[in-house]
Amino acid sequence: MEESKEKLKKEIERLKKEKNAIILAHNYQIEDVQLIADFLGDSLDLSRKAKETEANIIIFAGVYFMAETAKILSPHKKVLIPEKDARCPMADMVTAEELLKFKEKYPDAKIVAYVNTNADVKAVADVCVTSANAVDVVRKLDADKIIFVPDKNLAHYVAKNVRDKEIIPWPGFCYVHRSFLATDVEASRQIYPDAVLLVHPECDPEVVEMADYVASTQGMINLAKKLPARRFLIATESGLVTRMQREIPEKEFYNAGLPKVCSNMKKITLKSIYYSLLEEKYEIEIPPDIMEKAKLSLDRMLEYSK
Ligand code: 13P
Ligand code: SF4
Repeated sequence: MEESKEKLKKEIERLKKEKNAIILAHNYQIEDVQLIADFLGDSLDLSRKAKETEANIIIFAGVYFMAETAKILSPHKKVLIPEKDARCPMADMVTAEELLKFKEKYPDAKIVAYVNTNADVKAVADVCVTSANAVDVVRKLDADKIIFVPDKNLAHYVAKNVRDKEIIPWPGFCYVHRSFLATDVEASRQIYPDAVLLVHPECDPEVVEMADYVASTQGMINLAKKLPARRFLIATESGLVTRMQREIPEKEFYNAGLPKVCSNMKKITLKSIYYSLLEEKYEIEIPPDIMEKAKLSLDRMLEYSK
């Protein structure tokens, strides 16, 4: 088993060099994948990396919308996702057609699309945001009324922090983050009363309310490094806790409650990455008109969050 894992890793390295490929991976990937990634990060840093890479091929170890985002930002690169069924259920909770119908009720509103959306939705949005920059981008946006899709919890968090704008939320949600219950988080706090509680804004408002800090996955890593505290309770997918334990061994990290798993993020393995590189599958393809419009929304986001 270990031997075949080592063999796979060697083959992946060989193919990467031969094809001038780069592996971008999200913080929720399994540890084996985290360890072979050229770059590991949150949605915002991964999209920046996708835009600036010199590689010919991007292997995206994450969910579909993330690989699509990489393709939109790097249209001349070949972008591959090792498992085409690795999708984010929240991103599938809104379509462009539904959104445009909804907007008829609010003709003067601007549309802000969380990056956890499919390309057709990004194409009809005015700007995209990630969990790292949503508050900042919405604050800077020239609009009094904003339709925010698809995460109602992130919409709620933004509304709380940008009081002078009306935020109209879409009723989407992340099943992983919604499974953090305030009672479980409180029980973890009783066990580690000195721990700093870091919460992802996709969690329900009562859990966000309990947080010492609300942050994206990369934001949590930065806080854990920067703060003097030694213990942290983490309310996001457990892959991030694995990364924090590995990279910041002098501090302690615990899941806030039972570990939560995004099953789609965990579909990608060393084997699927190997075959993805070898057979150059599964290639992300987006119709050119959607691609062009979606790129405007993503470029605007990167511009606002410089
Ligand atoms: P981050 O951008 O904070 O890594 O979040 C992505 C995501 O899908 C959270 O569930
Ligand atoms: Fe989507 Fe939630 Fe998984 Fe993130 S954790 S990819 S929002 S289902």
